[in-house]
Parts: sequence; structure tokens; C-alpha cells
Amino acid sequence: MILERSGVINLRELETQLNEVDKRPDVAELPKLIKMYQLYQSGQREISTKLENLDAEFQVNYDYNPIHHMESRMKKIQSLIGKAQRKGYDLTVESIEKNIHDVAGIRVVTNYIDDIYKIEKMLTSQTDVTLLRRKDYLKHPKESGYRSLHIAVKVPVFQSKGPIDVPVEIQIRTVGMDMWASLEHKLRYKTNTDENLVDKYGEQLRDYSDELENIERGMQEIHRRLV
Ligand code: GTP
Ligand code: MG
Repeated sequence: MILERSGVINLRELETQLNEVDKRPDVAELPKLIKMYQLYQSGQREISTKLENLDAEFQVNYDYNPIHHMESRMKKIQSLIGKAQRKGYDLTVESIEKNIHDVAGIRVVTNYIDDIYKIEKMLTSQTDVTLLRRKDYLKHPKESGYRSLHIAVKVPVFQSKGPIDVPVEIQIRTVGMDMWASLEHKLRYKTNTDENLVDKYGEQLRDYSDELENIERGMQEIHRRLV
């Protein structure tokens, strides 16, 4: 099951989104931005399909699904421009393509910890998928307690005039880690209104992250013995 959070944009939609930003890209960049979004979304679909196919094969061959569910999202124009401004990048498609690697994103939520690395291996060993970057926040959790495997890959998208390589960012995490990350994200978001909520719950959440890992490893072990 893939939950698609946003679709491809047209010029009118782009205009509406641009009303929300304080610095707009040059008008000549707008058609290029739309083309970039269309291309990146195709790349995202290529990867989503590969992941769905792998999961389906597992179901048939091993009577088991490594993927609990997936979510895909295209970064909103406001967020894209906000990020480019924050980081001091030019508001051009060229600069965005060069510097911002999470325009197309997929989150893969797995049942168990082992599934995370299985999925990474099965995907990146495909001949048309190239690993660009990798951050293992399972081996090295963030200060907050955040755990996930982040990889960026490129995949060719076959356009009318031939293939173009497109980057897609993939976050792979277990159901437990996903639940943890949603709550922790909410906590940080709420910080704007109430500063000491992070002080109050931050440490508790960090402990929960460790506890969750123990539980997930234990459950993994039981599951291993059942298959
Ligand atoms: P930016 O993408 O530019 O922010 O930096 P980066 O590429 O170094 O990103 P990073 O590897 O930190 O991953 C960014 C994404 O991971 C965020 O958009 C979140 O979805 C997720 N993430 C990273 N750290 C945390 C965290 O501490 N808590 C939660 N809830 N999510 C996190
Ligand atoms: Mg990122």
C-alpha cells in the first residue's frame, strides 16, 4: 500500500504555492520547475514500483511481507524554496537539482529491523539503481534518539527523448521507529508555542527510543524462530 501525499503540479497550482513564499524564483524558472517536478515524480514512481514488486515477490516466495506500508511525498514548493533560501542556494532549477536531494521522497515502513537492510540491499543491487548517499541512523542514532536508514539513489526515467537519471530519497524504518518519529516530530513542532515541552519530554523520548530498540530486537528474534 502506498499513500501518495501530493501529486504533480501545474502552472496554476505552482502560482498558488508561490503566493506563500517571500522570495519567488525568476519567472523564466517556473516552466523548468514544473518539468523538474514531473520528472522527479516519475523517478519516485519507478522506485515505489520496484519496492512494491519486491514485497509482492516476498509474499509469494516466503509467505511474508517485509514492507508494512510506504508513503511517498513530493516536497512542497514552499518548503523547497524555504530550504533553498535557508541554505543560501540560488532559486534556480539548476541550483536546486545540484543542492537539494529530497525533492522526491519515499518512506518505507517495515515490520522488523532486519527488513530495513534487506530492502536496502535488494533495491540498491538492481542494475539501474545507483546509491548516491547513505546515512545509517540505526547504527548511529541522532542526539534526539531518532533512528532510520536514509539512502538517496538515482534511477533512470525514460522520457520521450531518452533516459534521465533522477535522485530519490528513501527513509527506511520499522513501524516502531515510525511511531516514535511521528511523536517526536510533533513535540518539536509544538516547541514554537511551548518551549519547555522538549525539556519535559525530550529525555523520556530518548529513553523510549532505546527501549523500543530492545523490544524490536526481541520480537525480531521470536519472528526468526517462527519462519
Ligand atoms: P536536511 O534534509 O537538509 O534537513 O538535512 P539532512 O539531509 O542532513 O537530513 P537528515 O539526514 O537529518 O534527514 C532529514 C529528515 O529525516 C527529516 O526531514 C525528518 O523526516 C527525518 N529526521 C531527521 N532527524 C530527525 C529527528 O531527530 N526526529 C524526527 N522525528 N525526524 C528526523
Ligand atoms: Mg535531507
